Parts: sequence; C-alpha cells; structure tokens
Amino acid sequence: MQVVVSRDQIAKRVEELGSAITRDYKGKELVIVGILRGACIFLADLIRAIDLPVTLDFMEVASYQGVKSSGSIRILKDITTEVEGKDLLIVEDIVDTGLTLAFVIEYLGGRQPRSMKVCALALKSGTPMPTPSPIHYLGFRVPDGFLVGYGLDLDQKYRNLRDLCILCEEKELKR
Ligand code: IMP
Ligand code: MG
Repeated sequence: MQVVVSRDQIAKRVEELGSAITRDYKGKELVIVGILRGACIFLADLIRAIDLPVTLDFMEVASYQGVKSSGSIRILKDITTEVEGKDLLIVEDIVDTGLTLAFVIEYLGGRQPRSMKVCALALKSGTPMPTPSPIHYLGFRVPDGFLVGYGLDLDQKYRNLRDLCILCEEKELKR
C-alpha cells in the first residue's frame, strides 16, 4: 500500500475547497448531501471549512463489490430534507466510472433543487468526463487503481487511514 495523497495535502486542499464554496454560496441556503459511506470523513472536514449556515443530509447508494463496480446502483438510504428550490451540493468521495454520480445527479435533480453542484474528493485519471464536467469542486486527480483511506474502503476496511492510499495489487485485479 502506497500513499497517494498525504493527510497534509488533503487538509490543505479541503481548506481551499471550503473557501471556494463559502465564496460561491454567500447569502444562499446551502444543503449538503453526502454520499455514504465513503464521503463521511471528507464531508466532516469539508463542512468545517465552510463558513456558511449549512443543512446536512445523506444518501447511501451501493454499486461496488470488492474492487469492482457491479454496474447497477441501488439506493440504500434516501435524503429526508425537502430540497425543492434549495441550493444543493453533493459531496462524493471518489469518481471512477462516473455511474454513481450520474445516478445521484439524475435522482436528486428530480427533486427540483434551485441549483445542484458536486464536490468530489478524487477523480481517477482514466475517467473520461463529459464537458462541462459534472464535478464543480475537485480535490485531486488520482491514479487509476483501487484507493483506500480517508473514508474509502475495500469491503469496509481501511476507512480510518489518515492518508489516501493505493492498493497496488488491486489495480491489477481491476483489469
Ligand atoms: P463509480 O460509480 O464507478 O464512479 O464509483 C463510485 C463509487 O464507488 C464511489 O462512491 C466509491 O464509493 C466507490 N469507489 C470507486 N472507486 C473506488 C476506489 O478506488 N476505492 C474505494 N471506493 C471506490
Ligand atoms: Mg461511495
């Protein structure tokens, strides 16, 4: 296991993202929806870097089994906040195929928020992104392969690592 993004780099970037979000949403009522479970650590740090009143809610979706996306996405937990007419910020941990994000954007878009943006901690380098990109605030471009730590798991393990790490051998498995 190798460190890809250190805890110090993460802390610095989270402050920058929080400042940008604070600036962009000044005077607005921001509803933040974290995608469980991977985004929980990032979200906890990010909201403390945002100097605005925020409402917090969560969605839980599942698509991954081990190191592979199953391709089909299920909602395990829905938001309970009324988001119609509100400014919504989706917080995701990592974007790989983009399927999860596309699903969540489509689903929450149906709730008629006034605006909807995405903040993701990481985007894999090989992921082709449409233009304009659905990710408005991005922490890091990371190498392809399977990452763990800072909230990201492999079958529920490693979420509590402080750094973002790559499991080299899983990279090969993924092909
Ligand atoms: P996507 O739908 O392929 O973009 O995958 C997104 C979801 O799968 C994220 O919300 C993550 O929870 C999970 N995921 C994707 N890649 C990784 C990884 O490298 N490590 C841990 N989780 C991942
Ligand atoms: Mg996730």
